[in-house]
Amino acid sequence: MPQPRKIAAGNWKMHGLGESLSEARALAAAHTAPGVDILLCPPATLLSRLSEALAGSAVATGGQDCHTAAKGAHTGDIAAAMLADAGARYVILGHSERRADHGETSAQVAAKAQAAHAAGLIAIICLGETLSERDAGQTLEVVGAQLSQSLPGGADAANTVIAYEPVWAIGTGHTPGLEQIAEVHGFLRAGLPDPAIPLLYGGSVNAGNAAAIFAISDVDGALVGGASLKAADFSPVVTALEKSLR
Ligand code: 13P
Repeated sequence: MPQPRKIAAGNWKMHGLGESLSEARALAAAHTAPGVDILLCPPATLLSRLSEALAGSAVATGGQDCHTAAKGAHTGDIAAAMLADAGARYVILGHSERRADHGETSAQVAAKAQAAHAAGLIAIICLGETLSERDAGQTLEVVGAQLSQSLPGGADAANTVIAYEPVWAIGTGHTPGLEQIAEVHGFLRAGLPDPAIPLLYGGSVNAGNAAAIFAISDVDGALVGGASLKAADFSPVVTALEKSLR
C-alpha cells in the first residue's frame, strides 16, 4: 500500500510584496535536499516571480484559488492553466476564507478542482468546521459532507491533497486537542477515494506545536498560514515534518 506523501505547505494569503521573495529564497537555501515536499502559495501577483526565484530548488509553488472555467469573460479571476503557466504545481481550493468571503460552495470547489486537474495542477482542497458546529457535535457530519461534495471524480493521491482546517483554529493561536485532530483525520482517511491522498492539518501550526501534530497518525503534514511568511518561522515546521519520518 503506497504511503501518503508528506507535505509542508505555506499559504501566504493576502500577504507579500516583492521584498518577500528573499524569505522564499532563504527557505529554499535551508532545505536543499528535504525529505518532504515543500511548497509556498503566494498571492497571484507574486506567483511568477516566486516560481522563478525557486526554480531548481526543492520548494514548489501554488495558487490560492482558480476559476472553474478554462478561460473566458470573468474579470478579476484566474484560470488554472494561468497558474500552471506562472509556475505553480498546486492550487489551494475551498479555503474557509474563500468559502466565507466569497460564498464558495463545496460543489463549486469540486468544479474548481476538476479545472485544476485538467490543467495538471494538484488541488489542495480545504475543509473544516466552525466553532458553533463543533460545539453542536456536528464536526464529523460537516467535514464528511464537505469531503464528499468538494472532491471531483478522479481525485487520487497524484492530483489531490486534503487540508483539515478547523475555522476556529485559523489565525487564533488555538489548536484542537491532539485527539480531536486524530479523530477527524482518521474519519477523513476512511472516506477518501484513495487512501494515499495526503491529509494535512491547518490552523495555528507553528514551530512550537508542529512536532506534536506531526506525531498524530493520519497527519501527513501541514498547511501553514502566519508561520509560513518568514523562513525563520516556517523552516522549523519543515524540519519537524522531516524528523517525524525518522
Ligand atoms: P494560520 O496558520 O495563520 O492559522 O492559518 C492557517 C490557514 O488558514 C492556512 O491555510
